[in-house]
Amino acid sequence: MESFKDRKIRWGIIGLGKIAHKFATDLLTVDDAQLYAVASRAQEKADEFANQYQAEKAYSSYNDLASDSQVDAVYIATPHVYHKENTLLCLRNGMAVLCEKPFAMNSEEVHEMIDCAKANNVLLMEALWTYFLPHYSYVLDLIKNETYGKILKLEADFGFRQEFDETNRVIKKDLGGGSLLDIGIYPIFAALSTLGNPNEIEAEATFFENEVDSSCTMTFTYKNGVIAYLKSTLLEETPTEAFFHFENGTIKINSRFHEPSTVTIISNGKEETIDFGYTTIGYNYEVIHFNNLLRQGKIQSDIMTYSFSKKLMKTLDKVRQIIGLVY
Ligand SMILES: NC(=O)c1ccc[n+]([C@@H]2O[C@H](COP(=O)([O-])OP(=O)(O)OC[C@H]3O[C@@H](n4cnc5c(N)ncnc54)[C@H](OP(=O)(O)O)[C@@H]3O)[C@@H](O)[C@H]2O)c1
Repeated sequence: MESFKDRKIRWGIIGLGKIAHKFATDLLTVDDAQLYAVASRAQEKADEFANQYQAEKAYSSYNDLASDSQVDAVYIATPHVYHKENTLLCLRNGMAVLCEKPFAMNSEEVHEMIDCAKANNVLLMEALWTYFLPHYSYVLDLIKNETYGKILKLEADFGFRQEFDETNRVIKKDLGGGSLLDIGIYPIFAALSTLGNPNEIEAEATFFENEVDSSCTMTFTYKNGVIAYLKSTLLEETPTEAFFHFENGTIKINSRFHEPSTVTIISNGKEETIDFGYTTIGYNYEVIHFNNLLRQGKIQSDIMTYSFSKKLMKTLDKVRQIIGLVY
């Protein structure tokens, strides 16, 4: 492949569903990125998508996109159960991969994907976009610097209502449906990125009739009595906020905490809300980070590291084991 030193990074997208549209919208705002190719299982859908976002190539098979040597980086936007297969296909063809969350279905799959990236010396990153959003980095810095003292408690939720419908990707068991893997990953991410690995995990879930979880409540206990109360649900609309309680104040990431949002700080009897002036949906930040890694010849992110993705999936595996969620 020719070097991309003096040109834009040529992106490809595999799986042209809801998130692919949002990602493509933001990709077009990134100066050194070009949406070069898209792949769907249907030619008409690929043509339409390519037309909408000015992609040069529209493929009717994921294999065809993965065989196009002009592609530098691929965004995998298929349902969870296909993440491993689609990622391996691209990595083996030397293409850098940004794969949607959850990275895969279990730890074994995540290990295989990371081993493949290492063996092929290609960049691989889980698209946990929240990690790259300025408001989230801001909160991480306040926590790291102990600006409001030591953290005592975290509360984070993510919920919206979905009527039971087995054809819906979010619920369909064959596609890895359920609240935990789809949205529970965000409150868990909030805990792991601020508090690290818990000493103990307790979890309870409710289930839809097809045996995927409709809601999941989790309690992570840390040393010194620090606790994280986490929740995901497909049964009701919940605020989808994150509260970090400290010795000398509270930081609240307002609704919805995982996407571009504002941060409210309550301390010394005063309340201040910080607006980060977002102008995009928020996917451009992970793309900019990824492009920089690619240009530097890195094969893993220093933020969303392999070890963090492994930790995240290991935690999801553990919660699944506790609530008895089997795919
Ligand atoms: N980061 C975020 O903010 C965010 C938000 C939403 C979702 N996600 C993640 O992104 C992934 C996709 O979610 P989505 O909401 O975009 O789903 P979606 O609207 O259902 O789109 C998924 C796409 O995957 C392709 N696909 C391949 N095999 C499929 C199959 N057997 N059944 C259905 N679709 C199949 C289809 O594209 P073609 O027909 O074009 O082949 C489909 O349009 C999930 O893993 C989800 O967790 C992330």
